[in-house]
Amino acid sequence: MAGQDWREDAGARGYSRRQIGRVAALLGGGLAMSGIVGEWALQAQGLAVPQSVPGAVRLNANECWTGPFAAGIAAASAVLAQANRYEPDGELDKFLAMVSRVEGVPKDTVLAWPGSSDPLSRCAVTFASPTRGLVTGDPTFEVIWATGAWVGAKVSRVPLAADGGHDVRAMLAADPDAGLFYICTPNNPTGTVTARADIEWLLTNKRADAVVLVDEAYIHWTDAPSLIRLAATRTDLIVMRTFSKLFGMAGMRLGYTVAAPALHERMMRYDGRLVTTMLPIPAVACGTASLPLSSEIAARRAAMIAARDATSAHLVRRGLTVMAGSHANMLMVGWAGRDPKAVVAALAGQGVQIGRSWTALPAMSRVTIGSEAEMAKFCGAVDRMLAS
Ligand SMILES: Cc1ncc(COP(=O)(O)O)c(C=O)c1O
Repeated sequence: MAGQDWREDAGARGYSRRQIGRVAALLGGGLAMSGIVGEWALQAQGLAVPQSVPGAVRLNANECWTGPFAAGIAAASAVLAQANRYEPDGELDKFLAMVSRVEGVPKDTVLAWPGSSDPLSRCAVTFASPTRGLVTGDPTFEVIWATGAWVGAKVSRVPLAADGGHDVRAMLAADPDAGLFYICTPNNPTGTVTARADIEWLLTNKRADAVVLVDEAYIHWTDAPSLIRLAATRTDLIVMRTFSKLFGMAGMRLGYTVAAPALHERMMRYDGRLVTTMLPIPAVACGTASLPLSSEIAARRAAMIAARDATSAHLVRRGLTVMAGSHANMLMVGWAGRDPKAVVAALAGQGVQIGRSWTALPAMSRVTIGSEAEMAKFCGAVDRMLAS
């Protein structure tokens, strides 16, 4: 497939000339190459990219409450002075080797990205089309809906199962001919986990030429097994990771995918390997130094879980609703009949930013879990709002 003109391929996959023209315009504008596709998709849905309010406690974007690990900052700082070079000393190769070692997958199954927004949208552009749909859970991280719709694919949003996992049987039934199934586990915004056995069922029962994308952005906060090693052994599974969450590197832009090389190659038809090879070198060095820090990772995970559990208990004591089953750095909170927009405004007025609602959960707001001190401020602000 590599080397074939993508327009010919798109024509064969059922795109009209008009649709091909639209994709060409997007790619010609360099959006996919710059990783802005996800942001564009957010804006297309009227979901503004989270803005910061100076001095506020920021619990609105699922970021980490603190920055990169000290060893990561040191590695990034050390390489910064050599950032006149695209590749000072094989930094990308060192990163891929580190992912391979830490994850136990062959190096040629790993690609690096500026975060996970680019590969997320790129999967929709690559594997969905007017003749092959996209199927996701609902609620979920919905950036991919707009990308799927934009490429002219049928987008099926399937309610989560009662346990909060993706209802894989209903997802397959919704579109047996889909080209791409997106499973976010733990899921954003619910934090709920989809059982590995369910994902394996989907892999077994879907069309052989359909692809499953498993987004493990929040995997560090669950004991559920990662599917990353399985992805290295199959030709229809992509597992995606980001450094934007537990690693505290959202502003540095780094992530990776693990998949069969042939699958990755299909994602590269549109722009060669530019995005995946020309990454910000300080971010790459930071990632290489951070990935093996298992005890630091465990400590961050434990701190977040303690703060999440304490916050949840506080909110429930106040008569608010907390959706059960979050295994990630977020909680969905219901406000006992209050309009979430009014709650967001009331808390912002006290210097606490919380997240938005989802169309499937309009009465709830997503609250990111920050540090113990930040969550104490949040709980205090909630108490004052309830008392007012
Ligand atoms: C589930 C999920 N996937 C992907 C992303 C994209 O993040 P980034 O591009 O920073 O890796 C996010 C960001 O919030 C997310 O929650």
